[in-house]
Amino acid sequence: MGKHSVGFNSPKKRYLLIFLLIFSISSVMIFIIRPSIGFCDPHGHYSVSNDDGLIQVNTGNAEVERNPLDFMKSKLVLLVSHELSLSGGPLLLMELAFLLTSVGSKVVWITNQKPTVEDQQMHSLEHKMLGRGVQVLPAKGQEAIDTALKADLVVLNTAVAGKWLDAVLKNDVSRVLPKILWWIHEMRGHYFSVEYVKHLPFVAGAMIDSHTTAEYWKNRTRERLGIKMPRTYVVHLGNSKELMEVAEDSVARRVLREHIRESLGVRNEDVLFAVINSVSRGKGQDLFLRAFHESLQIIQDQKLQVPVMHAVIVGSDMNAQTKFETELRKFVKDKGIQDHVHFVNKTLAVAPYLAALDVLVQNSQARGECFGRITIEAMAFQLPVLGTAAGGTTEIVVDGSTGWLHPVGKEGILPLAKNIVKLAANPEMRSKMGKKGYGRVKETFMERDMANRIASVLKEVLQNKGKSNRLRF
Ligand SMILES: *[C@@H]1O[C@H](CO)[C@@H](O)[C@H](O)[C@H]1NC(C)=O
Ligand SMILES: *[C@@H]1O[C@H](CO)[C@@H](O)[C@H](O)[C@H]1NC(C)=O
Repeated sequence: MGKHSVGFNSPKKRYLLIFLLIFSISSVMIFIIRPSIGFCDPHGHYSVSNDDGLIQVNTGNAEVERNPLDFMKSKLVLLVSHELSLSGGPLLLMELAFLLTSVGSKVVWITNQKPTVEDQQMHSLEHKMLGRGVQVLPAKGQEAIDTALKADLVVLNTAVAGKWLDAVLKNDVSRVLPKILWWIHEMRGHYFSVEYVKHLPFVAGAMIDSHTTAEYWKNRTRERLGIKMPRTYVVHLGNSKELMEVAEDSVARRVLREHIRESLGVRNEDVLFAVINSVSRGKGQDLFLRAFHESLQIIQDQKLQVPVMHAVIVGSDMNAQTKFETELRKFVKDKGIQDHVHFVNKTLAVAPYLAALDVLVQNSQARGECFGRITIEAMAFQLPVLGTAAGGTTEIVVDGSTGWLHPVGKEGILPLAKNIVKLAANPEMRSKMGKKGYGRVKETFMERDMANRIASVLKEVLQNKGKSNRLRF
């Protein structure tokens, strides 16, 4: 946030970036800080940002913008994460940590659940945080308690992090609650457990990624647990600067597009659809493939003139989702569409795939995504989005303008198939919707917008902390 960076205006920087992106497609241990999508699913899928300083250049002449978080300077902030991994929740909290250190906050990080065995990934993330001025403390012990008591603000990340309160603070819980901002990114039933969230009504505020998710939490806490949500703020996420730089560089996009298409065996003139989510039933890859097959049938039956179509499932993980993936692959084989459907292993580098696509499909089922960061990332790449009418997607995709929405479940298969055919047959429509989506991202879903929204929440929490709760103690 603090520093201004201009893309990579010099050709040298640009090619370095392209090289990094291509390289990182096959490399898992790249350093990433921005989470991408699907926080409902803690094992979601995340985007690239090469946050190693290589692609950042300071401009001498850029107008200095006031940082909305400046008032956090010299404030002590304790961040409590349920875990530390390259998954959505922790990465987003790290993003906040760096926004705060960049304005001079003193930031302390605690990871509640550490793996029992030495974890390389966690080690490098801790190392990265230390390098950016974040202090890392053990979850338990006097120092953790003292820091919580001294802090101006404590951010608990995810519902699960609630377990830390009683376990560590014990008798001091009530003194810390009035300065807790609870950041919630999940929407599944088992998170509505008293074990996690019994202190929720007494914290200073809750911050949630979408209106739909906030509504859901309100209903479920009331109906299932008989507790009341604290003051709740909805904060939509934003695209990282690094992603926008790639998305807005036509040369980078073209090189990445060619590279990925070649690796998949997809020609430039073919139309490429993709779901970019960890493969799991909740993300609806099965229903997407059925819709894709249906769309091929429609084209054949109606003898439509449509370019060759391909579908790619980015987010494959045979070890984690063996049964479901076997089912997907069997479907593809049974229908004889192997030449049209491609599986790509789970990757952190989604930008190259976004560059290669023509249409993103966001097919998350049931209550949908909490937010679904991949959706705004795709829109940054000027892609139309075909999404389920559920969850955060409905707050991002404008139906009929930046894409089309279809119902969740089996009822959605035919509408999605028809939408696939319409977009495949109509490049002007794709381009028009893509441009609308891009405009919407520039207007509302940029890192700057997210920082502004977070800043106003933090300001209010600091002002109000303890006010409404004081009588309880
Ligand atoms: C919450 O409950 C109200 C009424 O009980 C209902 O109209 C609304 O659809 C519910 N919202 C969600 C997100 O479940
Ligand atoms: C994808 O993952 C599987 C196992 O999860 C592995 O066997 C395979 O080699 C991977 N493919 C690529 C291209 O990395």
